Amino acid sequence: MSWQTERRANGVSRILITEQELQRRIYELGKELDGVYGSEAPLMVGVLNGAVAFMTDLMRAMTIPVEIDFMAVSSYGTSTVSSGVVRIIKDLNNDIEGRHLLVVEDIIDSGLTLKYLLELLQQRKPASIRVVALLKKVKPDAIEVQADLVGFTIPDEFVIGYGLDYAERYRNLPYVAVLDPSAIRPEE
Ligand code: IMP
Ligand code: MG
Repeated sequence: MSWQTERRANGVSRILITEQELQRRIYELGKELDGVYGSEAPLMVGVLNGAVAFMTDLMRAMTIPVEIDFMAVSSYGTSTVSSGVVRIIKDLNNDIEGRHLLVVEDIIDSGLTLKYLLELLQQRKPASIRVVALLKKVKPDAIEVQADLVGFTIPDEFVIGYGLDYAERYRNLPYVAVLDPSAIRPEE
């Protein structure tokens, strides 16, 4: 059994986006962003921990000068349902006044985390804010939130891999997969 097949048996019910599909789309997003910014050198703001895999691949798909920074916000704990409660755990290292920000998100689910984050960043008077999200769930009850570029639109299922976790596991899977319901643990 290969290492990937073995992992599939542990918590992965099906692969939604393969490693190759991810890399191809991220390359396209990188080219598009090169065109958007030209010589403006955006500050890429990665939202920890979920956006780490996407951020590192996306920045290498871009050929224009960029700077990077990270923010950490809490969302779910071990639950698979958004609580709507957002807390800043790590703030940016940079002063962002007058900067062109590119917020890099792993996934837009309810939209609550991103909405909160954008309001907070806006107060610090950046020159512009754009948002790139790798994934966006199709959700009738999601709130309207800015998303300038989206990698993939996915069904409303709980996904793992390529940065996304369930109870902090599975972030290192090279693909995006649907979590096997049998892997869901009761709240501790
Ligand atoms: P939102 O506030 O509901 O839009 O959720 C935002 C955050 O919740 C994302 O940045 C993820 O960290 C996490 N999240 C939402 N949906 C999923 C999922 O299907 N799998 C893993 N994490 C998720
Ligand atoms: Mg998470």
